[in-house]
Amino acid sequence: MKVLFATSEIAPWVKTGGLGDVAGALPAALRAQGVDVRVLVPCYPALAQAFPQAKEIARPHWLGGLLPHAVLREALAADGTTLWLIDYPPYYSRQGNPYLGPEGHDWLDNHLRFGLLSRIAAWIGSHASTLPWHPDIVHCNDWQTGFAPVYLRYLPGGRAKSVLTVHNLAFQGLFGHSTLQELGLPDHAWHIDGVEYHNYLSFLKGGLRHADWITTVSPSYAREIQTDAEGMGLAGLLRSRADAITGIINGIDTAAWDPSRDPHLERDYDAAHLDRKPANKSALQRELGLEQRADLPLLGIVSRLTHQKGLDLIPPIAEALLALPAQFAVLGSGEKSLQQAFHKLAERHRGRFAVTLAFNEALAHRIEAGSDIFLMPSRFEPCGLNQMYSLRYGTPPVVRATGGLADTVLDADADKRGNGFVFAEATAAELRAAIERAVAAWRDPPRWLRIQKSGMACDFGWEGPARQYAEVYRHLLE
Ligand code: ADP
Ligand code: GLC
Repeated sequence: MKVLFATSEIAPWVKTGGLGDVAGALPAALRAQGVDVRVLVPCYPALAQAFPQAKEIARPHWLGGLLPHAVLREALAADGTTLWLIDYPPYYSRQGNPYLGPEGHDWLDNHLRFGLLSRIAAWIGSHASTLPWHPDIVHCNDWQTGFAPVYLRYLPGGRAKSVLTVHNLAFQGLFGHSTLQELGLPDHAWHIDGVEYHNYLSFLKGGLRHADWITTVSPSYAREIQTDAEGMGLAGLLRSRADAITGIINGIDTAAWDPSRDPHLERDYDAAHLDRKPANKSALQRELGLEQRADLPLLGIVSRLTHQKGLDLIPPIAEALLALPAQFAVLGSGEKSLQQAFHKLAERHRGRFAVTLAFNEALAHRIEAGSDIFLMPSRFEPCGLNQMYSLRYGTPPVVRATGGLADTVLDADADKRGNGFVFAEATAAELRAAIERAVAAWRDPPRWLRIQKSGMACDFGWEGPARQYAEVYRHLLE
């Protein structure tokens, strides 16, 4: 079984969120299930630098001159994954975030940049391909590769089946009508059953309409997005495709996120040696300028700062939580208003409220290990990886019951096997009550140890999820 895995980001080279983690780990797990995988990704500067010797394997041509003169190169990642890099500097040789320019706005030519990515994915799955390797399935991820199923349908010579994984329905890839022609699609694709969405062209809608199968990154999210309340305008379409939607929870990279051998930590530990974890707390307090207090619960946050993550619920209750008393360690970047709110709290409560406004992988590991309690009050969360990292690091999470959070965290007050704390409504009052319950449990060490161990015993490896993806592929090819 041959699968082309197409993605717009891949850890450790280019990552803005969970999709990067998934793309960095799932392909190797699929290989272990006997799937022959290639990963297609734009050759951003970080990848060009990591693989200067990547050798040319094709110059995709489809429909005459319409494809820019991109070169496809092959490189081998350290985990044995074969990467196919799209070398086209006018589109991809830009530093920083793959989607945003230096001012924090979307690049104006994103439809062309990700149209090309989608189109080359489809080309590889078409009869037009000049490569010796022909995928049975093109597996796409989010809107940036959502047009591959569209091209496979509308351009001549489509061959492979397609799977589209929805990591986040909120990002839909909407562009004006004039882009239809730029993207090389025929006029009849502009249709409610094609790529048109309320008078916009939508990469995601086009993909959801035309993919042979749809997956989302948790069973709960698969159900939620079929409801009008959480379907972000696409619930009707998704309900019409209910027979071809599967929810598969993400795994995590259990090698990169392993407290017993994490190079970023002050002190390694595991479930049998949780007495070593506090050394990471005091190191974190030192690093962030927090008071050296073992007797205060340290609440950790690592997140994109966006409405999705529900972090705007924190500032209104921060003073009350600090008065418990408690400390905060926040790492995040994103919306200006949230950055400012956190920055203010940090200025007002030096020693108690630490904020780092950046993307910092190493610090993310130290917060997961050094905090006592992890906060993830998301309004919606397709899967979420940080709650799984925190469970594995013996840092029980407080989460809202939504999407993948609901599928991975069990409330310790409701169930003896509980591994965290769960609240229902996205309100500051409910979040505060849940944090207070968590702090009360933390003050009861034998009980806390049980909760920590429940979380650390969970299996979040990629083997199970990879097997489920392989089943989806097999089912499609039957
Ligand atoms: P999402 O993809 O919606 O942002 P996930 O929980 O699936 O949420 O994945 C987020 C990933 O990005 C995790 O690996 C997390 O550690 C990482 N991350 C998010 N923000 C930061 C940050 N400011 N610094 C370092 N890592 C971050
Ligand atoms: C998205 C979602 C997140 C999920 C990640 C990887 O960014 O917001 O919940 O874990 O994709 O699938």
